[in-house]
Amino acid sequence: MNRIKLVLAASFAAAFVWTIASGDRVSSQTNKGPAKDDLSELSASQNLALRPVTEAPAGFDNLTNGFVDQAGFNTALETFNEREEFDEGLGPIYNAAGCAECHTNPVSGGISQITELRAGKFNGFVFTDHPGGSLIQSRASDASIQEHILDGYNVQSFRTSLNILGDGFVEAVANDTLIALSQNQFFQSGGRISGQIIAVPVVEANGALRVGRFGWKNQHASLLSFAGDAYVNEMGITNPLFPDELTSNGNPVDMFDPLPNIESLEDTDVFAEFMRATKAPPRGAVTAASVSGEQTFNAIGCAICHVPTMRTAPAGTLINGGALTVSPALGDKSFHPFGDFLLHDIGTGDGIVQNGGPSTRNKVRTAPLWGVRTRNRLMHDGESLTFTDAILRHRGEAQFVTNRFNTLTTDEKRNLTAFLRSL
Ligand code: HEC
Ligand code: HEC
Repeated sequence: MNRIKLVLAASFAAAFVWTIASGDRVSSQTNKGPAKDDLSELSASQNLALRPVTEAPAGFDNLTNGFVDQAGFNTALETFNEREEFDEGLGPIYNAAGCAECHTNPVSGGISQITELRAGKFNGFVFTDHPGGSLIQSRASDASIQEHILDGYNVQSFRTSLNILGDGFVEAVANDTLIALSQNQFFQSGGRISGQIIAVPVVEANGALRVGRFGWKNQHASLLSFAGDAYVNEMGITNPLFPDELTSNGNPVDMFDPLPNIESLEDTDVFAEFMRATKAPPRGAVTAASVSGEQTFNAIGCAICHVPTMRTAPAGTLINGGALTVSPALGDKSFHPFGDFLLHDIGTGDGIVQNGGPSTRNKVRTAPLWGVRTRNRLMHDGESLTFTDAILRHRGEAQFVTNRFNTLTTDEKRNLTAFLRSL
């Protein structure tokens, strides 16, 4: 891995300090991360604003977005829906038997109420992972190897399952677009908001760095990397991208594993193919109240982080450290995530450090609000049960927006909720 210097772009260096944290594996106190130019995925001559753009297909309908044909989609969906048995590789330490157990509402690839447990230790200066990693697996094939949070691990958090429908479009957004978005936020908010960019390793590209965008902590930049990670960490199934067996609180569990061999890359490829071929979550019913609520959403600053429209890189763009070319089905598409895929401190951070290094300890990715009407447990921990409760937890970078929310009339608040219910 190259050691790369932080270069401040002169044009805005005076205005604010550009923070790019590098992945854990390459970070140290002296390495401030890669230069912005090293992360560029667009050529200097490519001006996205001048290119024609088409709307990304949306629907909770189990139909392909065109990345593969419908027969290919159906096969990939079947693999995603599959439940593994212990003699097929599941476990012995795991969270669930198949991807669709947790990504299922209202169709495979959506969200679910299932939460996971994370833990670590913070001594006031340094965060340390729980033995066996910050993810505490909640199931085991034998009671004697059940993982538990050990005494003294004072950082503890729940995390809800995330939506993956439409994530192929998110993956196809160029690093440059996310970096520009973060800069815009700073100016749009009078310096109060600037989403943090982190550069994380793309596992299938020998750890090449890319702007993280997946997971509550932006711990991954590629859907294939995430699939490999999930296969071992959620289901206990090792694979070429993640060859190390899980442990129980740090202790080996090989003797409980009837099938210790590494699975072929095939399954993880199929999971990635499924995710890349999913349509975006569709909008719900738009009403007069939701239209009015949308205006308020934009006017008081929610949309600075919950960005309504984003676009993908042109077809043919090389992304994921060179491991993937943006396909025609995903290129030059406009989509509506109501998120920025950047990290913020809004006072809700769970204290866990993943690929972003220490500066991200108390930051969380803006929850993309597409499909939020299918969720009844909100925020990363699922602990807010109404939209109003979720909004009132926004402090830190979002405090000034929450203050504006608090000054809205009852009708305006009701309409804002109607808008969220239409997403
Ligand atoms: C036990 C429940 C569970 C299972 C099983 C599971 N996931 Fe997840 N998934 C989650 C949770 C929880 C998150 C959020 C993780 C985080 O950020 O800490 C997540 C996040 C993701 C994301 C990131 C989505 C985004 O937009 O940020 C992807 C991609 C993903 N999972 C793919 C998979 C695949 C592929 C499988 C099967 C190999 C799988 N998951 C199995 C619970 C699960
Ligand atoms: C500074 C950026 C920022 C601003 C401004 C902001 N949000 Fe958020 N929002 C976030 C982040 C970050 C999260 C995730 C926090 C967590 O899970 O701990 C979030 C989560 C949410 C959620 C929960 C979604 C889910 O799927 O769990 C809702 C609803 C929401 N925001 C609505 C709003 C509304 C409405 C406004 C304006 C009043 C607003 N937000 C302003 C960053 C922001």
